[in-house]
Amino acid sequence: MSPTVGVIGGGQLARMMVPPAVELGLGIAVLAESEGASASIAATAVGDYRDAETVLEFARGVDVITFDHEHVPQDVLRALVAAGVPVHPGPDALLYAQDKLLMRERLTELGLPVPDWAKVADVAELDAFLADHGGRGVVKTPRGGYDGKGVRVVSAASDVSDWFVTGEPLLVEELVEFRRELSQVLARRPSGEIALWPVVESIQRDGVCAEVIAPAPGSAGRIADVAADVATSIAENLGVTGVLAVELFETTDDRVLVNELAMRPHNSGHWSIDGSTTSQFEQHLRAVLDLPLGATGCRDPWSVMVNVFGGLAPERVPLALADQPAVKVHGYGKEPRPGRKAGHVTAGGEELDDVVFRARAAAAFFED
Ligand SMILES: Nc1ncnc2c1ncn2[C@@H]1O[C@H](COP(=O)(O)OP(=O)(O)OP(=O)(O)O)[C@@H](O)[C@H]1O
Ligand SMILES: [Mg+2]
Repeated sequence: MSPTVGVIGGGQLARMMVPPAVELGLGIAVLAESEGASASIAATAVGDYRDAETVLEFARGVDVITFDHEHVPQDVLRALVAAGVPVHPGPDALLYAQDKLLMRERLTELGLPVPDWAKVADVAELDAFLADHGGRGVVKTPRGGYDGKGVRVVSAASDVSDWFVTGEPLLVEELVEFRRELSQVLARRPSGEIALWPVVESIQRDGVCAEVIAPAPGSAGRIADVAADVATSIAENLGVTGVLAVELFETTDDRVLVNELAMRPHNSGHWSIDGSTTSQFEQHLRAVLDLPLGATGCRDPWSVMVNVFGGLAPERVPLALADQPAVKVHGYGKEPRPGRKAGHVTAGGEELDDVVFRARAAAAFFED
């Protein structure tokens, strides 16, 4: 019998693991949070991922547990490990994708390049940090943030007084002057093999990834080497298994700093479905099953991915397909909602300007 991968969380990341699971002849099961989730095509169970009993019951039918998001509580993860279930990434690694304060502490200990940061417990501590950093900073809630929620640029501690009411400490960072944002995605097997895709450029709008260019223009050489070294060091030192995405800043003074980590397939790796020999979703399945990793070369000199927000109106899909037959359109099967990641498109080719144009032209059919 071929092994079955169990994915906790029914979002688009779980959904996009389904085609490579089918192709590789693997089983895939999904514990979704609700009926009609993006990955309901493979949802085998619906239940609360915060409930250890629910998750243990789901795990009984699979060979390995992995994730669509990083919100499964540590006690649930540890209950799985105690029950002998292989969990990839494991709780000791996942901790650093769950908590940005622990991540900053650990990366600093490892001597990896990060923005100046501090753990602040109250308004006075935050004011002291801001005073030392030109009066500005970026405050983050350590846990539970996504798509820019839980991130605020501040010029006074009072800008986050509502966040201090919980009594939990906050993370504050220098406001990094960056030229652009990069992302280094890799996969690591439990037995140690690592495969990296080229470092990519990711463009955020309102704190959310909007476009990705692979590889990052002008990155061959030092930038690519630094990004690969930093991400490899993180994967090895933290014992990450499966896909790891390291979000990076390329600063105006030519440094590369780590922003944050995701230990699962990542939006900055979606281009790999159409643009690489092995997609991040296939690679994640291989990695968590400790199978040999696939080649990560590019199919085209350039790939450009553009996110589609809101919804993929069915009547517009044929228009986009007809206008851009060489662009690949991906829909996540979600109910439309303003601002929601509803799908993405990927174009590939020889000339970057042309590839950007075609990807944006296809995505534009879905804009309001
Ligand atoms: N220290 C910083 N200096 C300047 N800009 C920052 C800083 N930290 C974050 N940002 C900006 O805010 C965006 C979101 O921050 P971050 O990645 O920490 O949040 P998130 O909500 O966890 O993100 P994601 O969308 O990846 O889930 C970053 O991509 C970057 O554009
Ligand atoms: Mg981020």
